[in-house]
Amino acid sequence: MSDFKSNNKVVNWIEERLPVFSMMQHSAIEYPTPRNLNYWWNFGSLAAVMLIIMILTGLFLAMNYSSHTSLAFDSVERIMRDVNYGWLLRYLHANGASMFFILVYIHIFRGLYYGSYKSPREILWFIGIAIFLAMMATGFMGYVLPWGQMSFWGATVITNLFSAFPVVGDYIVTLLWGGFSVDNPTLNRFFALHFLLPFVIVGLVVLHVWALHTVKSNNPLGIDMKGPQDSIPFHPFYTIKDLYGIGLFLMFYMAFVFWAPNFFGEPDNYIPANPMVTPPHIVPEWYYLPFYAILRAFTFDLPLLPAKLQGVLAMFSAILILFALPWLDSSKVRSAKFRPLYRQFFWLFFVDCMVLGYVGGKPAEGVLIKVGQFCTAYYFAHFLLILPLLSRIEKPKPLPASIAQPVVKAAALLAMIGFGIAGFGGQAQASSAGMPEFKKPAAAFSWEGMFGKHDQAALKRGWQVFHDVCANCHSMKLVAYRNLADIGFTADEVKAFAAEKEVPDEPNDEGVVNNRPARPSDRIVPPFANDKAAAAANGGALPPDLSLMNKARPSGPYYVYSLMLGYEDAAPEGHPIPEGKFFNHYFPGNAISMPAVISDDIVAYADGTKATKEQVAYDIVTFLNWAAEPELDARKSMGVKVMVFLALLTALMYALKRQIWKDVH
Ligand code: HEC
Repeated sequence: MSDFKSNNKVVNWIEERLPVFSMMQHSAIEYPTPRNLNYWWNFGSLAAVMLIIMILTGLFLAMNYSSHTSLAFDSVERIMRDVNYGWLLRYLHANGASMFFILVYIHIFRGLYYGSYKSPREILWFIGIAIFLAMMATGFMGYVLPWGQMSFWGATVITNLFSAFPVVGDYIVTLLWGGFSVDNPTLNRFFALHFLLPFVIVGLVVLHVWALHTVKSNNPLGIDMKGPQDSIPFHPFYTIKDLYGIGLFLMFYMAFVFWAPNFFGEPDNYIPANPMVTPPHIVPEWYYLPFYAILRAFTFDLPLLPAKLQGVLAMFSAILILFALPWLDSSKVRSAKFRPLYRQFFWLFFVDCMVLGYVGGKPAEGVLIKVGQFCTAYYFAHFLLILPLLSRIEKPKPLPASIAQPVVKAAALLAMIGFGIAGFGGQAQASSAGMPEFKKPAAAFSWEGMFGKHDQAALKRGWQVFHDVCANCHSMKLVAYRNLADIGFTADEVKAFAAEKEVPDEPNDEGVVNNRPARPSDRIVPPFANDKAAAAANGGALPPDLSLMNKARPSGPYYVYSLMLGYEDAAPEGHPIPEGKFFNHYFPGNAISMPAVISDDIVAYADGTKATKEQVAYDIVTFLNWAAEPELDARKSMGVKVMVFLALLTALMYALKRQIWKDVH
């Protein structure tokens, strides 16, 4: 029993019956921690913070989400538009998933570099791998929930992998789907499991920390603590260091949430799931890409072992092999600091994983297939050949006698952030390749930049363009007339816009359904009764709903702006355009069914602005951007406040940390 005694009677009363206070005292306050941990040791607690954020935001999202195929997409958009701060919850959650993986990947590579998987920490390491696996399953199922195109097709591709297993494969897939394709039962069970698994992760994290506290933390030198001179109590030394790290991390995370909330997402997922239309390029979320590359690296069928099965087995082995790591690498020295050869191979392995990630995000063609195959082979060679060999031949540098030496000061966190931004920036750039350079308006769009907002005058003009021109063919089903009040129209104007259209009324007392004028609470009334009628009136091509258009195409605003101005009266030489289609420089394939709808003076602006076609294009794109991101202005101004707050808080934590640590160094 512990020697815990408090002055507080209630605390003592509880403590005698359930020793929670002594446990906390033991594991969060006194816990003897190596005094030399560097910033790479921040990522475990950061991941724990992230897990809590995910569970909390997820809980509130679940209160507003509908897991039915016909409601899911719209329920997410309702969260974005009509639930108070729903956009914040969703963006915190969606970007949080990426952050969680960034943190955990860094945490894993930290473990690899410093040999944290070695004796006596094997079970600690196993539990970590289990957490990673559970995270992958959770992330995958979460991505399906918004029921966009990528949700649907990602789910289809990944679940289909199981069909590669002989005999039982098809049975497993049917079982996963709950039917004969990805459909409503699939979505429902994914939602149930997506809600459940995070709590399994919590359980695993408890075990992980329990194992950690049993064997104690590893440290950058990888040598054991030999006595009290080597350790310091967890609190206040590491609590403050963790808090400082959390401040820095939150700034990184919030930068995405408030300024680039769709950075890690795919534009295609803003198109509702459609089993009849396969997107040209199906990619999983970035955090699966290295494994996706391994999956696709196998292209030769062998007897009894078709390529697909090889790929699936390799992909699972790529993770499961981590379980064998403590034995594959049998070197007694833990830290790469004292293993000159291992250190170099560690970095080669790191680069190999990055290249695999890059290859996984690209279409499997040309030289990339070979690169993917080489890197896959190297991935396994690292574990199966290089590590066992190194453990034999490497001559480690002499280990220091004890930990009690200056604490390593690292600018590591900043380096990590830099590398992260660089890596993902490359990824983002790659996704808009293969398109002609987009046209840009003479003056940048008003909402660009850190402080940019939608320009109200342009929004009102844009509505006029939509109303007079686009709305003859396109719907905008996610926006209600009442929303127009947000761009500066008066209540009477909004009423008048609504009243121009009719919608079916409730059945009257005789059961007859009459039409009534639309009200501000109605969604913008579509020009056609249904999609079939809309397509029929447009030569067979359905004019897509414009509510989310700016988010549903790569570089959306620039794309739409360019599309509007990208028509050619006659198709250029060698570009035959089918009957009823028009040549457009920016439309994929160049033959578009939409005629050139804007030209100079196509509208007479109520505010007297001259309606050049560039002006019209600018205004309609501004309006469409508001339709797609009505929260943008609020989001950015909240972002500025949050950042100022976090910067001050982090500075304070840093100062405190300096103060608390000043006698330790
Ligand atoms: C005469 C009917 C008509 C009008 C008016 C019209 N469109 Fe279209 N639009 C279409 C059709 C049809 C398509 C589908 C084209 C295709 O798939 O080939 C389309 C497609 C689009 C697309 C999607 C292109 C893509 O990448 O899939 C955008 C964006 C678009 N229209 C914007 C507008 C805007 C903005 C306006 C108003 C300025 C407008 N449209 C007015 C018929 C129209």
